[in-house]
Amino acid sequence: MTQARFITLEGGEGVGKSTLASGLVRWLDTRGVQILQTREPGGTPIADEIRRVFKSPPAGEDITPETEALLVCAARAQHVAKVIKPALTSGQWVLCDRFADSTRVYQGLFGGVGINEVERLIKFSTGGLEPDLTFLLDCDVTITAGRIGARGADPKGDDVARYDQAGHQVLDRLRQAFRKLAGFYPARFYILDASLPPEKVLQDACAELERRWKL
Ligand SMILES: Nc1ncnc2c1ncn2[C@@H]1O[C@H](COP(=O)(O)OP(=O)(O)OP(=O)(O)O)[C@@H](O)[C@H]1O
Ligand SMILES: [Mg+2]
Repeated sequence: MTQARFITLEGGEGVGKSTLASGLVRWLDTRGVQILQTREPGGTPIADEIRRVFKSPPAGEDITPETEALLVCAARAQHVAKVIKPALTSGQWVLCDRFADSTRVYQGLFGGVGINEVERLIKFSTGGLEPDLTFLLDCDVTITAGRIGARGADPKGDDVARYDQAGHQVLDRLRQAFRKLAGFYPARFYILDASLPPEKVLQDACAELERRWKL
């Protein structure tokens, strides 16, 4: 059996993370790898409760950047301790849709919380666990804005990020923040051209998995 790997998917709204996640789970299955699929914020009952507050804060009160950072890190602490680490320890692979890099970008580089504070919170909440591989789905924001618009309201009702409302300029700044972050961790990140059709994005990701781990 191959060593258990921890893979994360990152990128802005509507770049195709969830679409790629499903494709990767199917492809890995054909290679004999059953991977646990999860997402952040959330992934345990407590973390999902925190996600609810994060995604739909009660009306009439602004959430501070510090509170937001603490909430996502609290959810992650629970997720890592109760789901991700036990899975990896038992030899199971884990695929997580967003992880600490989203906190680095949204709350750190992009939000009001300094990157040093964010790094401390991340380390505290993860115990230093980092993914083995992070796919950054990178795409021109005019394309992703079109996809978000075409998708409309999420039937699950909880997945329309507040940033979906943001203008192109904001989305582009987010995109650049993710690219900058990838530059800080060149060995861990693999950047996918997410403007390609879904099957091409999946093909590129699978080729990288084969290249790295001889699957
Ligand atoms: N490579 C692609 N080419 C064209 N359309 C795509 C591609 N990938 C995903 N889509 C479509 O774009 C929309 C957004 O995709 P998806 O939900 O996978 O993105 P996401 O990154 O998970 O979004 P969110 O951040 O909101 O969770 C969906 O309607 C999906 O079918
Ligand atoms: Mg998604």
